[in-house]
Amino acid sequence: MNKEDFITIKIDLYRRNIRETIDFAYKKRFINERPMALDVLLQAQETQLDDLAFRYGCRARNCGVCTVDVNNKPRLACRARVKNGDKISPIATLPVIKDLIVKRDGIARQMNGYNNITSKNNLNVEAEKEYHHLTSCIECYACLDGCPMHSRNKINLENNEPYESGNPFSLLKIQRLILDPLTPEIEKNNLVKKAKDLGLDACIDCPGCKCGVGINLKDEVIKPLLTQAYNKS
Ligand code: SF4
Ligand code: SF4
Ligand code: FES
Repeated sequence: MNKEDFITIKIDLYRRNIRETIDFAYKKRFINERPMALDVLLQAQETQLDDLAFRYGCRARNCGVCTVDVNNKPRLACRARVKNGDKISPIATLPVIKDLIVKRDGIARQMNGYNNITSKNNLNVEAEKEYHHLTSCIECYACLDGCPMHSRNKINLENNEPYESGNPFSLLKIQRLILDPLTPEIEKNNLVKKAKDLGLDACIDCPGCKCGVGINLKDEVIKPLLTQAYNKS
């Protein structure tokens, strides 16, 4: 077996509160292969670490559950190509449970009670195109990276407590509800207030957030919310 047949990828393991980085020798399936991070994790699990913990579902950028950090930046494991020397670790913005699995439920729970639409699932009511843009969110949580609002949750994260401050994803959900033609007008005012309660003020001086699948968060979520809340853009 030649050295060129392999690439070495660093993988972070996290077990019993101890973090350890291992070097995994990925065996290329063909010459010049640049595998996805998920291919590496699957091979590592199959050949060397049968209890390696990571999430994946669709393998096609649809389900959003496979997000990991590649060289400390959030990427969809099923879509991020890796090269010799790269490092795969759990996303740094949420608490780790085991290896590459992070605790995702706190973000979804934060939105409990936000959807007070009374007339649900009426197929005869058309939504604007901006609403449909926001439905392409796959809940990958890549946008939490570098968000000053989410970083206000640092103590909550460390103590495993509910998050008080929001993030780009929670603001997207709020703006999507505001754009939903089934949302009553009175509820739209409540939604703007909820965005403020989550810490929308952090967005005023922030250069903006980045979406893992290309949603224009700055123009389609943050600016409209700032305008509605503070008459700012
Ligand atoms: S604009 Fe707001 S939501 Fe986006 S990264 Fe900045 S603080 Fe976070
Ligand atoms: S807004 Fe984009 S980055 Fe954030 S959770 Fe949705 S798809 Fe992922
Ligand atoms: S496995 Fe579904 S988005 Fe990666």
